[in-house]
Amino acid sequence: MKSIYILAIESSCDDTAAAIIQDDKIIANGVSTQKIHQNYGGVVPEWASRKHQENIIPLLDHVMKLADIELSDLDAIAFTRGPGLLGSLIVGVSFAKSLALSLDIPIIEIHHMKAHVMAHFIEDPKPTFPFLCLTVSGGHTQIIKVKSHNDMKILGTTLDDAAGEAFDKAGKMMGLPYPAGPEIDRLAAKGNPVFDFPEPRIDGLDFSFSGLKTAFRYFLRDQTKLDPNFIENNKEDICASIQHKIVDILLNKVEKAVKQTGLKQVAIAGGVSANSGLRNALQERALTNHWTVFVPKFEYCTDNAAMIAISAYFKYLDNDFSDHSIGPEARLAW
Ligand code: KG4
Ligand code: ZN
Repeated sequence: MKSIYILAIESSCDDTAAAIIQDDKIIANGVSTQKIHQNYGGVVPEWASRKHQENIIPLLDHVMKLADIELSDLDAIAFTRGPGLLGSLIVGVSFAKSLALSLDIPIIEIHHMKAHVMAHFIEDPKPTFPFLCLTVSGGHTQIIKVKSHNDMKILGTTLDDAAGEAFDKAGKMMGLPYPAGPEIDRLAAKGNPVFDFPEPRIDGLDFSFSGLKTAFRYFLRDQTKLDPNFIENNKEDICASIQHKIVDILLNKVEKAVKQTGLKQVAIAGGVSANSGLRNALQERALTNHWTVFVPKFEYCTDNAAMIAISAYFKYLDNDFSDHSIGPEARLAW
């Protein structure tokens, strides 16, 4: 049987990504990370869309070479429709539509957060339905009951900041470069969680990180009053402590979700799932509670187009194509 080739584009935030899938196998995967935002301590939307414009065609050339196929071999083009930064999404959506029009092939819209969950279907071992997925990124924190490729139910979500934001804002207060998540992870590995912070009391499976952020701000302020070099001299322990608390908040809710649903397959997804503290703590809890856990490869945790491609493959099989009249949605509904 003839293979299906799909080109996938991801441009929801500050990484321009493209991938090509041949049936259910990724044959090319590329990302252009935009370094410029580091100068500003956060993503500058205007810069993000301009950089996507510059990166997207060279990236297409790169993945086409890697895949060793011709544009005429493509059967569909998939893209992230949302959620994300509007100016960033517009670049990917317009590019995908125009290329699909010129090749006379269908387009497939993908929901960015559902795609993070689908990253678990890129390589073995794959979870079986239904399973739980903790999806933690720069903009979202969700516990999802995944019933099938196209049926996912949100059981809990953050009421304020996302887990990635909690990492990034804590790091910013410490003077760490953006995005601080990976930097906190690196420093935490050399420290111990000797400082404690209060855990929010939120009902059900929802999360909140704004109280922790405030507690952390006051903690740094008070300690710096006593010792102006407090942050510099205790960087590793401070990082280990805040990371430990964020991970604890996340996994306590996962434990609650397992109890409520009886589902013992637990997956993690999204940029924060790259965090080694979260990965280790998840493995520990899995041993104690007899869970089977699924942790994607590092490159499939943070924003990537392979997750868009695998999502698109299942939609292609369902003949679930999009109309050219659709546009990007910064707050795309679930
Ligand atoms: O999924 P993602 O790449 O983009 C969004 O869709 O938001 O997630 C980015 C977030 C950022 O907040 C970043 O700091 C965080 O993931 N992150 C990490 C690590 N790697 C990325 N947080 C903690 N530890 C890491 N190793
Ligand atoms: Zn993401």
